[in-house]
Amino acid sequence: MDIHTDRIFRNTLFVILLSAASTGCSDPRSEGLSLGEERSTSNEAKITEQMIAAIKEVSLARNDADLRGPIKRFNQSKSLGCFDAKFSVNKDLSSKLRHGVFEEPSSTYPARIRFANATKFDDREKDFRGMSISVFDVQGDTLWGNAGQQDFLLNSHPVLFAKDGSDFLEFIQASRDKKLWQYFIRPSHFYSLRIAMQGREKISNPFALQYWSTTPFRHGPDQSTAVKYSVKACANTKAYSGKADSTDFLTYAMAKQLSDKPVCFDFMLQFQTDPQGMPVENAAKRWKEDQSPFVPVAKISIDPQQFNTPEQKARCEEMRFNPWQSLAAHKPLGEINRLRKAIYSEIGTFRVRPRTETPSDQQ
Ligand code: HEM
Repeated sequence: MDIHTDRIFRNTLFVILLSAASTGCSDPRSEGLSLGEERSTSNEAKITEQMIAAIKEVSLARNDADLRGPIKRFNQSKSLGCFDAKFSVNKDLSSKLRHGVFEEPSSTYPARIRFANATKFDDREKDFRGMSISVFDVQGDTLWGNAGQQDFLLNSHPVLFAKDGSDFLEFIQASRDKKLWQYFIRPSHFYSLRIAMQGREKISNPFALQYWSTTPFRHGPDQSTAVKYSVKACANTKAYSGKADSTDFLTYAMAKQLSDKPVCFDFMLQFQTDPQGMPVENAAKRWKEDQSPFVPVAKISIDPQQFNTPEQKARCEEMRFNPWQSLAAHKPLGEINRLRKAIYSEIGTFRVRPRTETPSDQQ
């Protein structure tokens, strides 16, 4: 096949995938649900168990060169930088918005934020990026973990590539068996391929991206509320554009931007207004902003700081986040979130514990 024919073939394939992919996202599990309502299935415990086993296998296989060293995260593996930050709730919030962390307008909380590449260790490559936020000293009952801590985990694409736990599990198992193509080649997974192709990008500065929770959360005591989160640079921020001249250039771009002035982000909520068109049980379906726009509720500020010393990098590797490290007011919703509680807990412990066993002990 010459280059021209090859390009036509690839473009045609992409168009076929795009058109076929939308049907892969159809979502019978949302039928009959009302606003904020979840629908769990009886096999979630089994899926969780299988996912934990497969993630451990994949993580150990990736780490096989140095079993005594710390294991890298299974997802968002390369830390680009961890920062001390301030999380300030906006003033003038309506009563609908004032729940949990956002209950007291104008209050400010200490926070810690980690930026990462999902899978690539060379910053010049296309990838998904992650932004993980821990907010401290917040008031209210906590669902899991440390009292007074609220975590928010965000990706650089508005939807997840897997609509539910079964698809995510199949993806991890295919990855473990080094047969990822077997996952993507199934017509029912074309939607995943489309999202993976659209979502992986080359970037010039993690501070300049928009990030999304992709999965929904309760907002306050009303059981009919569900929101998604998003974070993006404040309107007046001019992001420094890093030059793609080294494997770590994104870290240098953030250091350059932070060298003289703070970086500011808007933290935003999007309310579910249609239980079928904006489903709780399908993480691959985008909640359209023309149906329900994101509303700013807080500002995040990162002041100039030194963040790239060996000690700070080690501390960044030890940080652990969990969407269930959360106030009851922001309870995680939907199957993907239900599975994540045990997975992040168990994998986080597995990842940071000292590695002294032999490989066979760890299976
Ligand atoms: C069932 C679905 C999912 C599974 C099995 C999964 C699994 C994992 C695992 C095992 C880690 C590493 C945890 C650690 O070592 O401490 C991780 C990290 C992460 N995941 Fe997920 N994940 C899922 C869904 C999602 C979703 C929907 C998002 C959306 C934003 C997301 C965003 C992140 C981020 C940002 C991190 C990095 C956390 C950090 O900075 O330490 N994940 N995920």
